[in-house]
Amino acid sequence: MSGQPMLATYLAENAALIEAELKRSLPEVWAVPPRLRESMDYSLSAGGKRLRPVLVLAAAEAARGGESDREAALRVACAVEMIHTYSLIHDDLPAMDNDDFRRGKPTNHRVFGEAMAILAGDGLLTHAFHMAASARRYGADAGVVLDIVEDLSRLSGPAGMVGGQAADMQGEQGATALPELQYIHEHKTSDLIIFSVTAGVRLGGARAEQLARLEQFGRKLGLAFQIQDDILDLIGDESKLGKKTNSDTAAGKVTYPYLVGMEESRRLLAQFTDDAKQALLEARLPKPERLVELADYLMNRDR
Ligand code: IPE
Ligand code: IPE
Ligand code: MG
Ligand code: MG
Ligand code: MG
Repeated sequence: MSGQPMLATYLAENAALIEAELKRSLPEVWAVPPRLRESMDYSLSAGGKRLRPVLVLAAAEAARGGESDREAALRVACAVEMIHTYSLIHDDLPAMDNDDFRRGKPTNHRVFGEAMAILAGDGLLTHAFHMAASARRYGADAGVVLDIVEDLSRLSGPAGMVGGQAADMQGEQGATALPELQYIHEHKTSDLIIFSVTAGVRLGGARAEQLARLEQFGRKLGLAFQIQDDILDLIGDESKLGKKTNSDTAAGKVTYPYLVGMEESRRLLAQFTDDAKQALLEARLPKPERLVELADYLMNRDR
């Protein structure tokens, strides 16, 4: 795409910015028990694609029509990465998916024990709200920040990601059908992606009707993302994914490949990606190209 760096460069540069910001997010002068700090840092700095925080930055740029107020957007980007990382720590616990590897390393509870893993998750969840609210001190409008904090609470809470995870735990092979699976994916996965793109465009100054289209973009992108996650659980490469494959099969999870087969899953992945791009284009943001490119990239990802 002319006039902008290649996607790989864009992703690498923004991931580096986000990682530097994450590193200083919990002030050194705060009296945090060292083991708790270590456990939070362990999962936060383990890598990962940084998809959600990159979407915050890319959406802000798309709405602004160029470089956005980076500092405020970075605070919100870190907030969603903290919620996401906490959700992974808890998702891996023996009481949930019982996984031993994450982001190329032993899972948090395997290193720090279950109690500290639960508390690291709690710490990240709580500190995420501090990060989001702090965007005001970094130049964002106070009203915009309040809307973002309200969205973050709703989309990560009981009607959002936590609700999706609860429904995921209750899913049963043989009993859970497509509408329930769609509910699970919309909430456990789409909601944080909806948060990322809508928070980004809020910071970039989007109008209400654009927000509604971006919400739809995030929903469909999240559905596509989770189908690809389920496909990669079956056919992915563990060394690229940084997590064990066949985890869903071992845990008896209901997934798209389980319910509708691989071919239909791939068709739906492409369909949801198209729907996502359609909604994005309907928002008529000043500069949507990078978000379109990200949607295409995610459909074909192998990690
Ligand atoms: C994994 O998310 C959990 C899902 C919602 C599918 P990612 O695939 O974004 O994980 P990281 O952040 O790259 O580790
Ligand atoms: C996890 O979905 C979603 C959240 C953590 C909110 P999965 O259980 O499929 O994610 P992975 O495959 O363990 O990364
Ligand atoms: Mg899970
Ligand atoms: Mg899991
Ligand atoms: Mg999975």
